[in-house]
Amino acid sequence: MPAKWTPESWRDRPIRQVPDYPDGSALKAVEERLRGFPPLVFAGEARQLKAQLAKVADGQAFLLQGGDCAESFAEFHPDNIRDTFRVLLQMAVVLTYAAACPVVKVGRLAGQFAKPRSEPTETHDGVELPSYRGDIINHIDFEAAGRAPDPERMVQAYYQAAATLNLLRAFAQGGFADLHKVHRWTQDFVSDSPAGERYEELADRIADALAFMEACGMTADAAPQIRETEFYTSHEALLLTYEQALTRCDSLTGDWYDCSAHMLWIGDRTRDPEGAHVEFARGIKNPVGIKCGPSMAEDDLLRLCDLLNPENEPGRLTLIARMGADQVEVKLPPLVRRLVREGRTVVWSCDPMHGNTVKSSTGYKTRAVDRILREVKGFFAVHRAEGTHAGGVHFEMTGQNVTECIGGAQAISEEDLAHRYHTHCDPRLNASQALELAFLISEGLKDERGAADGRVAAAF
Ligand code: PEP
Ligand code: CO
Repeated sequence: MPAKWTPESWRDRPIRQVPDYPDGSALKAVEERLRGFPPLVFAGEARQLKAQLAKVADGQAFLLQGGDCAESFAEFHPDNIRDTFRVLLQMAVVLTYAAACPVVKVGRLAGQFAKPRSEPTETHDGVELPSYRGDIINHIDFEAAGRAPDPERMVQAYYQAAATLNLLRAFAQGGFADLHKVHRWTQDFVSDSPAGERYEELADRIADALAFMEACGMTADAAPQIRETEFYTSHEALLLTYEQALTRCDSLTGDWYDCSAHMLWIGDRTRDPEGAHVEFARGIKNPVGIKCGPSMAEDDLLRLCDLLNPENEPGRLTLIARMGADQVEVKLPPLVRRLVREGRTVVWSCDPMHGNTVKSSTGYKTRAVDRILREVKGFFAVHRAEGTHAGGVHFEMTGQNVTECIGGAQAISEEDLAHRYHTHCDPRLNASQALELAFLISEGLKDERGAADGRVAAAF
């Protein structure tokens, strides 16, 4: 029986990836202020997302989770939020229409600031400074004052998350996401790409379908889903001082929710069952994700399921596999099989980004679109073979026309990376590459659904 959970019981556990704040009393003062700030999300919304994810776990829907690797203070701009949101909408439309599968949309947005790092310090020309850990902790520039963790950054991150979330809510419900506007979501640089052209054809078909439905009397007044959408937020629950300060007791149920986002996940580097991050996530009732890299052992995964979802509640746990294109078909099947054998209900999602990061010959951290697509294909193949649902994808993307991942229809080369490489951490897919990925996934989902129909037919 685990010991009693409180929002601060994680403080008694070993912790990884924690910043070393030079001024403890300044940190305490900021935590105190944050505790008095309004929650960013409402517990009821987190419960709604859990109910949606339960449908994903049951094979009736698909999870689309994406956004920045690391949000930054410098890139905070309404256009960036709008562009990322509309690419996610486009992807969701492709998946919903082409695979006839409802899509649960979750942004890696409005709070995705803290980053785990492989080394605690970085050395250049004999100077050693703390590593950059995300804008919520320190400054990206290699300079001593900025690299010292500063608790005030948590306050700035909170305000940025609040403003971002406010705009996302307005977009989702104020008419931007109206299906009648599908054509207008495409950005100029995407419209000439093969994925952009394919999207235009699909948008024409949607417009026809809407006209038909309206002629039959099914207008947006009768079906508000035509005019608005549900959009949720998520980030890695890495900086626990911040997460704890936004964890609140829900007055309706008496349960604790981390109200910094609807969904939180635990990274591959902080998923130690005895560690602080797992302890924190254990007591909050939000939907929780666990990143599963190639070192994830079957027994550890089961242990994490026991700790984080003892009641086996559908929608509570999303397992985000990030095995790498070469390993996914070897490493994933035993984990999937084991959970099936143990009767665990989870969402399986594919993060095809973090297992496929390489350094280009020109010195940039990058990922090849081919390998990303190959991992997604492998993920679908595993679930097809196991008879389980390939529940979702989790990826790093932006609506901007960046050149951070190589390949794709624009054939971005290693030399091109220097042109528009803006990420503060990992390389992101641009809007055109992300749309390409959506078409690939829709093929995978169609196959899965076809196979499921085949199974049903065979059973009759
Ligand atoms: C991330 O999602 O940005 C991340 C750091 O992932 P992982 O924990 O899988 O390395
Ligand atoms: Co990343």
